[in-house]
Amino acid sequence: GEIHHHQFVIQPTAVNRLCQTQQVMTVNGQFPGPTLQVHNGDTLVIKVTNAGKYDISLHWHGVRQMRNPWADGPEYVTQCPIKPGGTYTYRFTIENQEGTLWWHAHSKWLRATVYGALIIYPKPGSSYPFLKPTREFPLLLGEWWNRDPMQVLRQAMITGAAPNISDAYTINAQPGDLYACSNKDTTIFPVEAGETILLRIINAALNQQLFFAIANHQMTVVEADAVYTKPFTTNVVMIGPGQTTNVLVTANQPPSRYYMAATAYASAPGVAFDNTTTTAILEYKAAACKSKNGSPIRPILPQLPAWNDTNTANAFTAQFRGLSKGKVPLEIHENLFFTINLGQINCSRPSFRCQGPNNTRFTASMNNVSFVFPKGTSILQALYQNTPGVFTTDFPPVPPLQFDYTGNVSRGLWTPLRGTKLYKLKFGSHVQIVLQNTNIFTVEDHPMHLHGYHFFVVGTGKGNFDPTRDPANFNLVDPPVRNTIGTTPGGWVAIRFVADNPGVWLMHCHLDVHIGWGLAMAFLVENGVGKLNSIEAPPPQLPQC
Ligand code: C2O
Repeated sequence: GEIHHHQFVIQPTAVNRLCQTQQVMTVNGQFPGPTLQVHNGDTLVIKVTNAGKYDISLHWHGVRQMRNPWADGPEYVTQCPIKPGGTYTYRFTIENQEGTLWWHAHSKWLRATVYGALIIYPKPGSSYPFLKPTREFPLLLGEWWNRDPMQVLRQAMITGAAPNISDAYTINAQPGDLYACSNKDTTIFPVEAGETILLRIINAALNQQLFFAIANHQMTVVEADAVYTKPFTTNVVMIGPGQTTNVLVTANQPPSRYYMAATAYASAPGVAFDNTTTTAILEYKAAACKSKNGSPIRPILPQLPAWNDTNTANAFTAQFRGLSKGKVPLEIHENLFFTINLGQINCSRPSFRCQGPNNTRFTASMNNVSFVFPKGTSILQALYQNTPGVFTTDFPPVPPLQFDYTGNVSRGLWTPLRGTKLYKLKFGSHVQIVLQNTNIFTVEDHPMHLHGYHFFVVGTGKGNFDPTRDPANFNLVDPPVRNTIGTTPGGWVAIRFVADNPGVWLMHCHLDVHIGWGLAMAFLVENGVGKLNSIEAPPPQLPQC
């Protein structure tokens, strides 16, 4: 493959949105950040220089990083963050992946403005498994705050309460016509009547699942998380933070201007959320797009489902089928069951002003462990250098306590431990994880993302997972393949993968506020035999903490 060199300079940039200007961190002054375009098999060499004021690291979301966790990016997990003034070069090869992925900061809430698309075309000479579109556009959904998002997070962590909700959603970093002072910068996607375009939809929002629709136009889903799917047609896409969804759209309507719009989806109210709507415009290149006096005509808005329309969301998700048959691991060596819950913890740090009842604050945990990111080093560096005391490998494979996960049980039943606990997997083992979303304390969706892997989604259901009955209904024939999967309140999702990528790999909820509360764990996948099954040597100039 080809080698692509890029320079990414993280820098404060004046950005004007919603009638005011503020300094935010960007890459090379671009917002959204640069689109990386490569072919399957190519290598990326990205020299990142931190000219900003915050520690930062970058993550290439969904890239498998085979044997190369050093390039994965989550701060304190695979590397120390790059300090202001520092530099780190990410070097990685795309191995057998095609489609849309993205990259984002993996430090606190910096990904609010530090993100961009990563597009992987088929190898030269091969093509898509669908008719080649005449035009392609990345479509990045995002979230905007009228304050520095790092300050929003800081405030939330000090009080221990939920953070302030965002002030706008965005499409390609623009809020669009329905927000103040945004009209003239609304993103426009030009089309010729009759052509079929490919939209590479990425949900880069920090804390919100979104519905997306285009007025009067259907979408055909062909790929998600850089894996092709069996095509299916839909009026509405539901997309969780971290996920990508490629859709084909045929411009088969009367030439005009049509709104594309996105708004919040949550299957339960949970904490307060932003319920505004972002728009862009699908604009036919035709005279009909102008009114008599020469000004552009007003587009039609699509029908978007209500924020809590779980039927539409679930019906959409249920349509996904994989194309890769016969590769699902059938025999399972590691049968894991992880509960995912929010809750409250007694305040242990005097700096936290606890605003929950009885001197408590929010927390989040998996199998009763609230994840703590190390400070003085990264887990991967500690592993490589045999530094003791940084992490343990006693993450519990099943919850220490069993009860009705769908009930709103009292928090007294469940007081999480805090720790940097990993679960160790043998190289090559076949892993099944049932992710059980519990209704303890508050009821929320959790889009769960696994680094370094994609996985088969073999089953999903409501209520408590039943190990004696539910596996009989698993789809082991053509399950979808994802790197991020939504889990719904009081419901479960079963995933399977082969532990063929050695390293330290984070698994976490992609709602960033939940990471701050500890909704994460990590796998330590041991080396196999020989160099081709082992972690590569660390690159030069790994940042130090
Ligand atoms: Cu897209 Cu750990 O993140």
